[in-house]
Amino acid sequence: MPNLLRPLPASSSRLGADFVDVGRFREVMKRHPRVVERVFTESERAYCQRKADPTLHFAARFAVKEAVRKALGRACAWHAVEVCKLETGAPSLAVDPELRTADGQYPVTASVSITHDGGFAFAVVLFDLSEIGKTLGVASF
Ligand SMILES: CC(C)(COP(=O)(O)OP(=O)(O)OC[C@H]1O[C@@H](n2cnc3c(N)ncnc32)[C@H](O)[C@@H]1OP(=O)(O)O)[C@@H](O)C(=O)NCCC(=O)NCCS
Repeated sequence: MPNLLRPLPASSSRLGADFVDVGRFREVMKRHPRVVERVFTESERAYCQRKADPTLHFAARFAVKEAVRKALGRACAWHAVEVCKLETGAPSLAVDPELRTADGQYPVTASVSITHDGGFAFAVVLFDLSEIGKTLGVASF
């Protein structure tokens, strides 16, 4: 049987969350202005800089990137994760296709939620993961 397909592996989910003190983040941005380019993509910078208080939105995106690292169980490049916006205004994520969890799985769907209030920014990220990239990677097609 030449065309035997592997079953789709059961996916698993991973959650990450992070909380950022906006006042402290403001200080960091003042002391190290190049942080903005190092951490945030061009479209993230354009979005935040259009806002009345850009730091609130930068802090929230920093929380998202830290939450992603927790969900992956590993560090990743800051620009490997970009916060985008849906038409509703809800946030969504674009990620580098090479992004993997510490145990080699890759995210196939993501849910992200952001809030900033009372001097804090908070983000939570949920990934659905698949091992299919890893298993196909070792197959000899
Ligand atoms: C969505 C809504 C609840 C956000 O209220 P808010 O007090 O501005 O929210 P917070 O200050 O806690 O958080 C702001 C973040 O909410 C997120 N957000 C904005 N619109 C959103 C939406 N429709 N759905 C989910 N999240 C949303 C954004 O990521 C925003 O941060 P950002 O601009 O830095 O990306 C409010 O805009 C609203 O009621 N809109 C109309 C109804 C609606 O669209 N409801 C959908 C959710 S029930």
